[in-house]
Amino acid sequence: MAVERTLSILKPDATRRNLTGAINQRFEDAGLRIVAQRRLRLTREQAQQFYAVHAERAFYDDLCDYMTSGPIVAQVLEGENAVVRNREIMGATNPANADKGTIRKDFGESVEANSAHGSDSPENAAIEVAFFFAQTDIAD
Ligand code: CMP
Repeated sequence: MAVERTLSILKPDATRRNLTGAINQRFEDAGLRIVAQRRLRLTREQAQQFYAVHAERAFYDDLCDYMTSGPIVAQVLEGENAVVRNREIMGATNPANADKGTIRKDFGESVEANSAHGSDSPENAAIEVAFFFAQTDIAD
């Protein structure tokens, strides 16, 4: 299996409740390494651009409102099969459908305030990592 990188975002509900350390512990316990990390507040333009793939969805405007409602933590996770592994650790998009022991089940408040985002493919991971980080920001 290949060592991969994936983009993770700890969402405003996680920063608001001071859960970033607890969530990072899940990644590290699962063998993923946080090789870049920064806390920031997205502008509306950045949120719209990051989630442009969802622009036609009914929830797009609310999602952009939500993602700009407080600080986020953007991070690069590295490890074996990191894209799929991270999605397993996060659990299903809707916390109500997520398995016990996943981040979204244990911490998520709703489908929107679901605590974490993770890239859905290695191709999108490369695009999403580059959205937040320069190569020189990443130290493995
Ligand atoms: P995320 O992995 O960040 O990707 C898009 C986000 O849209 C998703 O997690 C959810 O938080 C959010 N979202 C809000 N409403 C919905 C919905 N009905 N279906 C899917 N995603 C939704």
